[in-house]
Amino acid sequence: MDHGEIRDWLLVSDEARLAELWGRADAVRRERVGDEVHLRGLIEVSNHCVRECFYCGIRSGRRDLQRYRMTSDEILACAGDARRFGYGTVVLQSGEDPGLTCDVVAGVVRGIKERTGLAVTLSLGERSDEDLTVWRAAGADRYLLRFETSDPHLYARIHPSLAGRTSDRIAQLRRLRGAGYEIGAGVMVGIPGQTWDTLARDIELFGELDLDMVGVGPFLPSPRTPLGAPDADRFAAAPEAQVPNDELTTLKVVALSRLVCPEANIPSTTALATIDPAEGRELGLQRGANVVMPNLTPLAYRALYEIYPGKARVHGIADADRIAGAGPSSLESRIRAIGRRIGAGHGGRVRLGAR
Ligand code: 5AD
Repeated sequence: MDHGEIRDWLLVSDEARLAELWGRADAVRRERVGDEVHLRGLIEVSNHCVRECFYCGIRSGRRDLQRYRMTSDEILACAGDARRFGYGTVVLQSGEDPGLTCDVVAGVVRGIKERTGLAVTLSLGERSDEDLTVWRAAGADRYLLRFETSDPHLYARIHPSLAGRTSDRIAQLRRLRGAGYEIGAGVMVGIPGQTWDTLARDIELFGELDLDMVGVGPFLPSPRTPLGAPDADRFAAAPEAQVPNDELTTLKVVALSRLVCPEANIPSTTALATIDPAEGRELGLQRGANVVMPNLTPLAYRALYEIYPGKARVHGIADADRIAGAGPSSLESRIRAIGRRIGAGHGGRVRLGAR
């Protein structure tokens, strides 16, 4: 699919054409990654962050926010939960936190591997090549780093570089691939300043990078951030060019991501479930996604990891188990209700021909 085709699909509103897009994405999903929905246990290991990203609720400028960093033992306990719940992967995510040292993370990765055998995905921001190499050697399998936008000007505006170190996430993704990681990236849909052309280019780039994982969700304005402030309109593009941060557009991006990256693992994201708690998870899974990332972060910390509002209130299977037993609303029964089943094993990328 070329740029023009992607852009055309993004602008489609006709019901019959939309049905065609959903049908194509779901067929490619079924054919290439099957009916299994893989669960990844998300552990938000630290909300410390040195960055000032204009969209993010844990940006360093949020002086009012209480900061935490989980201990290695706490993280290992959560990984044990993931194992008991039958998940195949844990995802360690954090702000960009130099206090999470190379050695500490390497030790945690080794500990998780030894005790649980689970796949380990890291999502710890922009780190040195040395850190990334050491963590890979310690056993980390995958790395998530959304590039947020393919437009360098928009990127520079909403994601300031640290002094003397120009931020280039796309270059880091290529290095991660070179170091032997499976790589994941993505964007927010409807970030102020994102035009239809930018978003089409973002999706094209997913394909060019041949991403193993693609994560997309709607932009949700976060209070006390520049893009969540009352005057945030000044960041927006012209009305006809600005992408809305709505559910329909997000679902189109999920579907198009499946078409440009047919083998990728694509989560139905928490942000999508946040704007549509009743159906967002299912709709994502029915329009190209094949992964869900239930949150395993201890509840006391979860409230402090609100990168956007309402995030901590979205509950997954782990909460259902902890809080209410696996009742009819548990994630597993919701997955079964749409004719899918929970995946077994690590659930890494399976390349055509490797089957
Ligand atoms: N709304 C939606 N998604 C957000 N993220 C950060 N802030 C927001 C927000 N306000 C996304 C970014 C980041 C990921 C961890 O969460 O894309 O990479």
